[in-house]
Amino acid sequence: MLYALARPLLFALDPETAHHVAMRLAGVAGLFAARPPACPVRVMGLDFPNPVGLAAGLDKQAEHVDALAALGFGFLELGGVTPRPQPGNPRPRLFRIPEARALINRFGLNSVGIDGFVQNLKKHKRQGIIGVNIGKNKDTPNDKAADDYLQCLEALYPHADYVSLNVSSPNTAGLRDLQDAEPLAALLSKIKNRRERLRDKHGRNVALALKIAPDLDDGAIRSIADIVRRERMDGIIATNTTVARADVGRYPNGLETGGLSGAPLRERSAHVIRMLSAAMSVSCPLTTS
Ligand SMILES: Cc1cc2nc3c(=O)[nH]c(=O)nc-3n(C[C@H](O)[C@H](O)[C@H](O)COP(=O)(O)O)c2cc1C
Repeated sequence: MLYALARPLLFALDPETAHHVAMRLAGVAGLFAARPPACPVRVMGLDFPNPVGLAAGLDKQAEHVDALAALGFGFLELGGVTPRPQPGNPRPRLFRIPEARALINRFGLNSVGIDGFVQNLKKHKRQGIIGVNIGKNKDTPNDKAADDYLQCLEALYPHADYVSLNVSSPNTAGLRDLQDAEPLAALLSKIKNRRERLRDKHGRNVALALKIAPDLDDGAIRSIADIVRRERMDGIIATNTTVARADVGRYPNGLETGGLSGAPLRERSAHVIRMLSAAMSVSCPLTTS
């Protein structure tokens, strides 16, 4: 109802400005939000009040946590955050494709950096399940990427319930190469070892999930599932945005560079989830929106 009223106004603004306005309105919307029905699910050792959560990218700097929590999400995935601050790509970097109920973004992990992010997060009440999506800085070469993920994990450990390892944003050159078997196994092994040390130090477990791209062939998906199991990650998040354009190329904005999300991604994501579910012999418990 509130969205139906606000939509024409928001669509009159450029998409990134509309996003910031909508985030400010989220606090008001929360006052009117009906409580979602309880539908508890236990996943990765965490008790989620319901299985519908907010995906990474909406609150990249942890500025709107209380307002978003009031909307009734079963979890919030904040970020993506990088160790050092970085501006991301120049504007415009977010494009609507209303004909296809889709967006293309090329934000490029614009981030206040992990210290600013943690400061922001600490200003909010601790309520509900908080995940944080972490990535590497643009200027960190892939052979040093592990240091970036470890730095973020260390800083977030006291503040997050789970950490999502973003190796799948299409807007950081070379990031997706970290999904290849050899670098992925090396990265996850280092992260797993650090998590063990942090678990002993802090006396609590923070779950680890790997977030993957939809643009992987079936062999690569099976290989990732094997590595995730071997390196004892707690979960896989499927999927990030796609670089495919088959369904939107004919629309205005449809060929913008970046990651495509929304309705045209659904079938591909569902395929990846089905593949993972078969490879890991589990059902799919959570969804993001
Ligand atoms: C504007 C925007 C920013 C995003 N930023 C991130 C990000 O920082 N890290 C990440 O892992 N995924 C990011 N994503 C991907 C989403 O978390 C989600 O995986 C993707 O949009 C597919 O889901 P959907 O089709 O339901 O939107 C972003 C998506 C959008 C639209």
